[in-house]
Amino acid sequence: MIRRSDPMIAVYPGSFDPVTNGHLDIIRRAAAYYPRLVVAVVTNPSKKPLLSVKQRADLLREVCATIAGVEVDCFDGLLVDYVRKKKASLIVKGLRIVSDFEYEFSMALLNRHLPGGVDTMFLPASLEYAHISSSSVREVFSLGGDISDFVPQAVLRTMKRIGRHGLTRKRSR
Ligand code: PNS
Repeated sequence: MIRRSDPMIAVYPGSFDPVTNGHLDIIRRAAAYYPRLVVAVVTNPSKKPLLSVKQRADLLREVCATIAGVEVDCFDGLLVDYVRKKKASLIVKGLRIVSDFEYEFSMALLNRHLPGGVDTMFLPASLEYAHISSSSVREVFSLGGDISDFVPQAVLRTMKRIGRHGLTRKRSR
């Protein structure tokens, strides 16, 4: 639980496969509340990733470069252990649609219950990004759709370099 003496460091964890405009909106808003925000890329996501950990972290570094107080890092293992290691006192998550809530709420309870428990603060997605997720971006792109409204330019460039056929091959493996 947060004590007044805790350092003002928050962790925003995720797969970021790839980072979307919705993630970026949460990062900007969270960074305005917390002087230090660690955006933490999970290195062993439950789903098989499209982008490597390095690609995901490099893209985040590029798109967050102008946001004061934001650092990008990678982690594996338990999120609460990582949060404690970073001497952070809070997890930040974005909530898009109602169906996010059930999963995120149980994760928040779990992360508070575990030894060294950490609280989670939810930021509601801005309306214009509430329908955007990394998985929908991957899906639209793999089917030849336009994702330029959904992701930062740097991500678009990387996705185009990989190509939708590369993406389909990777996902069907
Ligand atoms: O962007 P995602 O895929 O929704 O992020 C999920 C993430 C990385 C936040 C979650 O999988 C996670 O916290 N993984 C670390 C392992 C862990 O601590 N699991 C138990 C509590 S969630």
